[in-house]
Amino acid sequence: MLKPAEFYQRDRNWHPHAFAPDYKTSVTRSPQRALISLEQGPSEITGPTFGHNDVDPIDRDLLSNYAAKGQSPIGERMILHGRVLDENARALPDTLVEIWQANAGGRYRHRKDTYLAPIDPNFGGCGRTLTDENGYYSFRTVKPGAYPWRNTVNDWRPAHIHFSIFGHSFCQRLITQCYFEGDPLIVRCPIVNAIPDAKAIDQLTAALDLNATIPLDTIAYKFDIVLRGRRSTLFENRLEGN
Ligand SMILES: [Fe+2]
Repeated sequence: MLKPAEFYQRDRNWHPHAFAPDYKTSVTRSPQRALISLEQGPSEITGPTFGHNDVDPIDRDLLSNYAAKGQSPIGERMILHGRVLDENARALPDTLVEIWQANAGGRYRHRKDTYLAPIDPNFGGCGRTLTDENGYYSFRTVKPGAYPWRNTVNDWRPAHIHFSIFGHSFCQRLITQCYFEGDPLIVRCPIVNAIPDAKAIDQLTAALDLNATIPLDTIAYKFDIVLRGRRSTLFENRLEGN
């Protein structure tokens, strides 16, 4: 079991400020008072732990994990893969990686999503997997569509996939979003633009990976996730328990 001293606080110079007026809901959601630090107790620094028995191989295949037999979702078939590493580029095995996303039309399977794009009956939009001994993970899915959101009158989210990374305790859950190389909406997104450092945005952008494509079948993007340190991937949540 990890000792409390082994958990790291987020680097607040690297992450965006909670108050970002162009991202309008951040105005009311950001703290109005100075933050306080809480002691990490057993509930934060122990469990839950995840074993391979908790995750089924089909959980990482969004092309089939919600599809009717013999059917598949509509959209650009895509492999999204990479490694979860620590700041010293060491692989992090047995890390739970969960994703959720809109379908190819930009619609989430959620009762609060009322966007005009249709629900895809063969696409659930959720997946999970554990990293292997080399910190490697891989999903099959469809590339999500851009969708409009109520911020100013004409804001569109770039295509993105939400990521949750879960280590071995509640202190080690981190949440972020992955974008895709070449998307012209990335630089126009007020949520993305709340991130002050262009390098951090680059690290949130999955690169086209022609080496991993399956010819005539599936395109591929690579998204490596680095925890902690100067090269860390930017996470949008505060650390649980802090
Ligand atoms: Fe989203």
